[in-house]
Amino acid sequence: MSEFKQVADIPGFAGKDIALRGWIHRTRGSKGIRFLVLRDSSGVVQCVVKEGAKGFEDAVKALMESSVELKGVVREDKRAPTGFEVDVTELKVVGFAENFPIRKDQSPELLLDQRHLWVRSRKLTDVFKIRSEVFGAIHEFFRERGFFEIQSPSLTKSACEGGSTLFEVKYFKEKAFLTQSWQLYAEALIAGLEKIYCIAPSFRAEKSRTRRHLAEYWHAEAEVAWIGQEGTLKLQEELISFVVKKVLEKRGGELKALGRDVKILEKVKPPFQRITYKEAVDMLRKDGMDFKEGQDFGIDEEKVLTNHFDKPFFVTDFPKKIKAFYMKESPDNPTTVLCDDCYAPEGYGEIIGGSVREESIDKLLENIKKEGADPKGYEWYLDTRKFGSVPHAGFGLGVERLVMWICGLDHIRDTIAFPRVMNRLYP
Ligand code: 4AD
Ligand code: MG
Repeated sequence: MSEFKQVADIPGFAGKDIALRGWIHRTRGSKGIRFLVLRDSSGVVQCVVKEGAKGFEDAVKALMESSVELKGVVREDKRAPTGFEVDVTELKVVGFAENFPIRKDQSPELLLDQRHLWVRSRKLTDVFKIRSEVFGAIHEFFRERGFFEIQSPSLTKSACEGGSTLFEVKYFKEKAFLTQSWQLYAEALIAGLEKIYCIAPSFRAEKSRTRRHLAEYWHAEAEVAWIGQEGTLKLQEELISFVVKKVLEKRGGELKALGRDVKILEKVKPPFQRITYKEAVDMLRKDGMDFKEGQDFGIDEEKVLTNHFDKPFFVTDFPKKIKAFYMKESPDNPTTVLCDDCYAPEGYGEIIGGSVREESIDKLLENIKKEGADPKGYEWYLDTRKFGSVPHAGFGLGVERLVMWICGLDHIRDTIAFPRVMNRLYP
């Protein structure tokens, strides 16, 4: 067959011959005629196969999701959803499909069991295209600003974000953990590279089933020497704004197909509003929530806070005792730390966690002991403070959390091809 085009190329072929290939998205017909909706990675188009066309018998036999190659003539048709149809002159079935196990309105559990087939759905394909744009934009953002991309190991000996969500694995004769964050290694690497970033999987043995937790998620992290809280907040708001802008520019069609209201995304520009933990607590109380100051926010609190904002915002200066050991104690208040969470609006909540890093070895040691961890595992990390320590800060963005909000999805699992959540490791 001649050179294959894509469904997206069709508008340039009105009245002309075209060769396409893809999958039968839907099929129906009556005597002597078959209507096949052909799907490729760029879209769908209705193709009409009439008796007499080469391959008509196979077109009748082919069930949905069969793969086909076809030749035909593009016809403009105002009534067609895409404005065009293809009158097929020749069709070849490349792979006949069995009875496809997924039909309309199936339960989420069945769709997860059949994930390897469901990943070809229009919905997931649209989300994955946006996800791809998000990854590309993150790389572009950091590289444009002179950051180096550098990786750290996934197998580690020490916890970064507390022991309760660590996955334990056998590592020859030792016990190892799957990484929760590259951060501790990143703090060592800035002494050579100064501005670094990485997008890699992080692992959290989250024992609760929620709409926004994965056991394996993609973590976009940055670490920068010589910056403080102001510098890291600016970087975060610029990053989020840049990514959202890129998605709006390049994936408007997919956002629309997902039913996303883009008006809220169009507002995403720096600066983002900043409130302290204390101010957030006051807001919650005013909203009638019975919240005990000093605790961490859960999704219920975050949701209520997001009602006050129409774009992403920061909550800063959390109580020291609920935050990670590496966060820098506030110089003017030893009970809080110089940290920030960036929340997405519309009820989505935390998408970034970041902080200025503690430089004092004594304070770090004290914090590590308070967490009940063995300081021995952190000796190498403490060395970073012994050999030319500099002020530095960094953050981690949950890429699926960002994609979930950008797409307006109600569950994080649909932002990733093969989600890893509690009770699910297959397929
Ligand atoms: O707030 P977290 O735990 O911060 C850190 O790991 C820091 N060490 C990052 C850094 O400073 N380099 O995680 C960062 C982000 C969260 O804001 C959230 O978006 C995402 O990672 N995240 C998850 N996403 C999906 N599923 C989970 N189980 C997640 N846990 C955290
Ligand atoms: Mg966090």
